[in-house]
Amino acid sequence: MTHALLLENRTDTTATWWRQAAVYQIYPRSFADANGDGLGDIPGIVSRADYLRDLGIDAVWLSPFYPSALADGGYDVADYRDVDPRLGTLDDFDDMVAALHERGIRVIVDIVPNHSSDLHEWFQEALAAGRGSAARERYIFREGAGPGGSEPPTDWTAAFGGSAWERVEDGQWYLHSFAPEQPDLNWDHPEVREDFLTTLRFWSDRGVDGFRIDVAHMLTKDLTEPLPSKDELALIPQDGNHPLNDRDDVHEIYAEWRRVFNEYDPPRTAVAEAWVSTPERRARYASAEGLGQAFNFDLLVADFDAQQFRSIITDNLAQSDATGSSTTWVLSNHDVTRHATRYGLPPLEREGEKQGTAWVKAGGPADQLDREGGLRRAHAATLLLLGLPGSTYLYQGEELGLQEVAEIGPEQRQDPAFFRGADFDGLGRDGCRVPLPWTASGPSFGFGDTEAHLPQPSWFAEYAVEVEAADPSSTLSLYREALRLRRRLQTEERLEWIETGRADVLRFARPNGWQIVTNFGSEPFDLGADAADVVLGTVVDGAVPGDSTVWIAPAGLID
Ligand code: BGC
Repeated sequence: MTHALLLENRTDTTATWWRQAAVYQIYPRSFADANGDGLGDIPGIVSRADYLRDLGIDAVWLSPFYPSALADGGYDVADYRDVDPRLGTLDDFDDMVAALHERGIRVIVDIVPNHSSDLHEWFQEALAAGRGSAARERYIFREGAGPGGSEPPTDWTAAFGGSAWERVEDGQWYLHSFAPEQPDLNWDHPEVREDFLTTLRFWSDRGVDGFRIDVAHMLTKDLTEPLPSKDELALIPQDGNHPLNDRDDVHEIYAEWRRVFNEYDPPRTAVAEAWVSTPERRARYASAEGLGQAFNFDLLVADFDAQQFRSIITDNLAQSDATGSSTTWVLSNHDVTRHATRYGLPPLEREGEKQGTAWVKAGGPADQLDREGGLRRAHAATLLLLGLPGSTYLYQGEELGLQEVAEIGPEQRQDPAFFRGADFDGLGRDGCRVPLPWTASGPSFGFGDTEAHLPQPSWFAEYAVEVEAADPSSTLSLYREALRLRRRLQTEERLEWIETGRADVLRFARPNGWQIVTNFGSEPFDLGADAADVVLGTVVDGAVPGDSTVWIAPAGLID
């Protein structure tokens, strides 16, 4: 069989490839540094294309790689249709798409429509043009309150802490739901709408397969005067008419985007990052007339607990059945404490919702961290996720079993949430964004040939790709094997629960007989005769040990 045919075999070439894809999130500045400036870049991704192929994922999602002052890790975009020169060029981007496509891997890019960078030419124009100008209409400028307008128009807080308003030289204020360097765009403005359509076509024309939409639920706003206070806002139900969050009218934007996605063959896909109040509200983003899919963060904020997992899985599958979308599963991303660490800490405390964005807060001091237990439970949860109907999003480094990095001094931190007082474990999000270790030694463990932009702790050596690739019992070997088997076992998007007689053990079967058993407890769970059909995970004396998952495939299912 030729190489090309092999690739065809491993890739779902249908228009619905995304429904059950395993998508790997790359945080480009921390993946691989080819030019030795300490920042990961696009040629770095190309240099690791074989690694991505061998991992066995179906697609990558790239966090922003656009020109940016990095006030928020690249989520402050200065130009939506270019590559940050520190990360490469548009030609490098094209080479990357080609390299990944050749290996059967699709490419999803991040679109950040709620806000631009303050360095975006539109915002610079708005500052120069002054109050009352047409240029200011593309953003949300208001006069201040109090004597001489010297106080912010409202007492609203930004997601990263501090006021949601910033004053400019001539005395007006602009709204920023996140950092001050991220002014919110005015989505009532036709030019804003038009420009994003141009951006979607720009990347689609370059061969991008799909888009991840940042804070998709916050674009439209009702800023009719008088504006409510923070306390009043908190009391307004999130039922589609809230002034700032998850408004029904946001879906008019996505209906227009869908028409653009459908201009392409196959249609471009999209996944919404929408931290909304219920699975029903989330489903609107996932509709076929809208973005098509939405992140489901329910398991990410759940404890490692069988009953919580079961009810979340059941609810979300029912929801995707109702909408015709497929559900998504996520345990880690660039915004939350890595799940190997969360599961190694005493029961989690939650920060709840902040400006519509829920952040996970790991409870307990670092000295209570049980690394081994956390990693064991992380493996169990990931294997369960990969057996579920729907798509699974993996975050770079979780395939190495990386823990959150706590050893970053205040002067080395980059996350605006750390500096602006939003809690985020008191540490911010840098700990899950530390550059990957590729080798056990070298100035940045093979990330590049110089020190990395965030400090890597010495224990990264044990987690290096070269170390784990050579060890059949490593996390990397487990992910590779799981993803390889998943391709062969994948089947219709359904499951049936099998009662286990134990509240702490979940078992389900997919339509072709593939079964997943997760023991969330500590007592072994006996498998009887099925122990002979275990194809993934460890069985001890015919039983599934505590904190672990096995996959069962009856003879014949895998040749
Ligand atoms: C992204 C964050 C970012 C924020 C503002 C989020 O939801 O995932 O990393 O800070 O949007 O763009």
